[in-house]
Amino acid sequence: MATFKFAVLPGDGIGPEVMGAALDVLEKACEKSGDELSFSTHDVGGIAIDNFGTALPDSTLEACRRSDAILFGSVGGPKWEHLPPKEQPERAALLPLRKAFKLFANVRPGLLYPQLADASPLKNERIPDGIDIVCIRELTGGIYFGEKKTWAENGETAASDTMLYRVSEIERIADVAGRTAMGRKGKVCSIDKANVLETSVLWRKTVSQYFKTHFPQIELTHLYVDNAAMQLVRNPNQFDVFFTENMFGDILSDEMAVVCGSLGMLCSASLGDIQNSLGLKFGLYEPAGGSAPDIAGQGIANPCAQILSAAMMMRHSFGRGDTAAMIESAVRRAVCDGFRTADIAFGKKPVSTTDMARAVIERL
Ligand code: IPM
Ligand code: MN
Repeated sequence: MATFKFAVLPGDGIGPEVMGAALDVLEKACEKSGDELSFSTHDVGGIAIDNFGTALPDSTLEACRRSDAILFGSVGGPKWEHLPPKEQPERAALLPLRKAFKLFANVRPGLLYPQLADASPLKNERIPDGIDIVCIRELTGGIYFGEKKTWAENGETAASDTMLYRVSEIERIADVAGRTAMGRKGKVCSIDKANVLETSVLWRKTVSQYFKTHFPQIELTHLYVDNAAMQLVRNPNQFDVFFTENMFGDILSDEMAVVCGSLGMLCSASLGDIQNSLGLKFGLYEPAGGSAPDIAGQGIANPCAQILSAAMMMRHSFGRGDTAAMIESAVRRAVCDGFRTADIAFGKKPVSTTDMARAVIERL
């Protein structure tokens, strides 16, 4: 029986609604295992801009530092879109959080239950057993964090972003991919653009060497990113675990998300090497779908991605794989029993956010 300490950052849009649902499920799940939750809630994103004048207030960052994990909702919305890009909630909250906690690995399961195949834009006969793959994205390096410049040149303006990778940065993400595949089908695909980019040449060489030494039992393949984008829609299940650098991962993970149907079902974990007070990984857990301002406040958003993100937190930051599995199977059964929010209803009568959470709780 343990007490799990985490910071709750609901953010904007549907964030607070789906967060409330996820916390209800988490409370009930932990009641069953006799564990206790100890969390405090803090502003992040647009609401923090309104209340504190900055998307990531020091008080929020400090609260995260005192915690063993962060459960994150979503940030952004039309209200803050007039701000300069650097001050917008997405960029000014998420990127500094990733950097501050060295969360270099973004793990995103691409899971589509066969019963939800209608939600995928792919023809159902291409995915008779649904989809079950994992995308791992490098999250604190590459072009996102390299030197940025804007300057004047012969009477016009020019700008540049720098893509930079070090061997150590490539090895540590390769390690996450290898370990993830060990617990699955043992297949890893590394994605790069080694026919053009110098960073990709280094990436491919480093990854090949690393797997030869540390994961000889894993089947490692390499794909160029343009081909990978095509393969992902052609036959997603040819992958088991795929991993790639930051920018390619940003694009491919959105592609994977849509191939897997509703964004409302997709969770993610951002992990690093920082240990929490339990000796496990500190992590940030968030749904993939964004703040969906168009449906915010209506009580109709799909809470499953937030609930499943909370399950990932139980597994990775709190060592409660059993609780995580219990939550995951309750979500699966609720959906398969026909409880569907509007985004995945397809002719069924849609249920509300809170009804969906209740259906999950009943199945724990
Ligand atoms: C994501 C988002 C972020 C990113 C944005 C909001 C900065 O698109 O988590 O994929 O580009 O990493
Ligand atoms: Mn993205």
